[in-house]
Amino acid sequence: MSAERSLADYQEEVTEKVIEKEEKKTHHKATPKHKAEELAKKQRDIGVGEFFARNRHLLGFDNKRKALMTTIKEAVDNALDACEEANVLPEINVEIVDMGNDRFRVTIEDNGPGIVKKQIPKIFAKLLYGSKFHSLKQSRGQQGIGISAAVMYGQLTTGRPARIVSKIGKGRPAHYYELKINTAKNAPEILKDQEKEWSKDHGTKIIIDLEASYQKGSQSIDAYLKETAIANPHVTIVYVNPKAEQHIFPRATKELPKETQEIKPHPYGIELGILIKMLKATPAKTLQQFFTSEFSRVTAKVVKEICENAKIEPKRKPKLLNREDSEKLIRAISETKIMSPPTDCISPIGETELEKGLRKEVNAEFYAATTRPPAVYRGNPFQIEVALAYGGNQPGDKTISLMRYANKVPLLFQQGGCGFTKAVIQTAWRNYGLNQSQKSIPVGPMTLVLHIASVWVPFTSESKEALAQYPEILKEIKLAIQEVGRKLARYTSKKKRVKDEFQKRSYIEKYIPHLASAIKDLIGISGEEEAKLETELKNLLEQERGKISKMVFDAKANTDFDEKLAKKFDDDEVDE
Ligand SMILES: Nc1ncnc2c1ncn2[C@@H]1O[C@H](COP(=O)(O)OP(=O)(O)O)[C@@H](O)[C@H]1O
Ligand SMILES: [Mg+2]
Repeated sequence: MSAERSLADYQEEVTEKVIEKEEKKTHHKATPKHKAEELAKKQRDIGVGEFFARNRHLLGFDNKRKALMTTIKEAVDNALDACEEANVLPEINVEIVDMGNDRFRVTIEDNGPGIVKKQIPKIFAKLLYGSKFHSLKQSRGQQGIGISAAVMYGQLTTGRPARIVSKIGKGRPAHYYELKINTAKNAPEILKDQEKEWSKDHGTKIIIDLEASYQKGSQSIDAYLKETAIANPHVTIVYVNPKAEQHIFPRATKELPKETQEIKPHPYGIELGILIKMLKATPAKTLQQFFTSEFSRVTAKVVKEICENAKIEPKRKPKLLNREDSEKLIRAISETKIMSPPTDCISPIGETELEKGLRKEVNAEFYAATTRPPAVYRGNPFQIEVALAYGGNQPGDKTISLMRYANKVPLLFQQGGCGFTKAVIQTAWRNYGLNQSQKSIPVGPMTLVLHIASVWVPFTSESKEALAQYPEILKEIKLAIQEVGRKLARYTSKKKRVKDEFQKRSYIEKYIPHLASAIKDLIGISGEEEAKLETELKNLLEQERGKISKMVFDAKANTDFDEKLAKKFDDDEVDE
């Protein structure tokens, strides 16, 4: 053993002893009471801002590429919601400028109703602030955390404030703000507040600098805009990408989608805690008033039945009911037959529009689309739509491609964990002529579009990327898939029959010349007559077996197909 070695050993021994001693000391200190007091010093509120700054992945900011996509998505979704609420045909400009060093400047401008001055700072620089969370209405946003999260991400990665211009009408001033979020307080910090000239009559423009990376491909901002244009035919988007290339997605219709109504919650979806909260907060004087005014589909007769089932007087004051009473009410609700919630609150894309959108994007041989009647989960109305495009130039040896939408917003991430995918996997696709190994996405030349429209889309996380797996929703998706699947099966089996028939005929046709020639030899007819006989035999074959035409793909048959749109952005594919 060398001298150096033993010195090192010695030092290690000493260090270990010191550690042991320290540990003994802390062990000695750490009585439960002591520890609790120590912990108490550390226990305090966690600010929403701090929470999401650290958990930015929950909001869709987990990497640079996604950050760019999420920022634009939040702003565009808001623009579309605002335009539809104001009955304005949306015209949206999206511009991304590459400023080098992974820094990008994004500008999104809309012609919506604008935002009143005093609301601007809170909307853009306070998390969980919005107009949609408290109302049951079909909209793209719902949590009130979209755009402010983008502002926060930009600020965290570049240190720069967001810049906003908004104007609510002709002759009114446009307001210009520079804003940051105070993440500890979750409150806006106003760096600049000015009036500004703006040629637009009304609308909102937001500029955010952020750290990001730009890529084309299936999960890119380009794909998101393209798919948005497909599901929202009334929208015009002018897009300038970081390479300074301009793409215009012109609107295909001037008709705005059906205006949706806000609804009240349906009693079937109410949980105990919510009911208790509502009973405490209501201005209603009686239970009767409470039920009829705060819920949908509750008539005086229904209240009477609920109260009878719960053995509680309808005249009782809601505020005075205790937890047990509330529990009785919940049980009574489930025992009472109540009409399903109204469904005029949902605005689906529609079978025709959905198929048309798909025709633009995919040049196939066969299309089918279906819009299911509205259904209900947890008291929330929803409606499922499914469309498919089969064959054509789509590869037959790969899994089918899925296009998922929620309230007309394309879902580009987390396909694996999505309710839509689960329903696709649980469908027996072999029945419809596709290959499928157990519990997987089928293989075949097909694109499948899936859409849920609802007053409250249940997402698996705040970043709104995947659909939660409620049994009622999965069931409706499967039924919709089965409807289009059956149409596909009719097509694929007809195609197979035609193919088999052609094969059979080709065998028979092969013998016709031999037959004619044998007859010629037997009864001695002329060569001319032999040729005539051959034609007659061929005619007879067609007469007997019926006239059929070949079912081959005609690339020119689909006049809706927009090659430029379909090809647009399809280069440099990348995986999630
Ligand atoms: N471009 C816009 N035009 C008009 N109002 C907007 C716009 N962007 C956002 N808002 C308003 O700001 C609120 C907050 O937006 P956001 O943080 O994205 O949450 P959410 O969309 O989930 O409500 C919206 O509910 C809407 O009332
Ligand atoms: Mg939003």
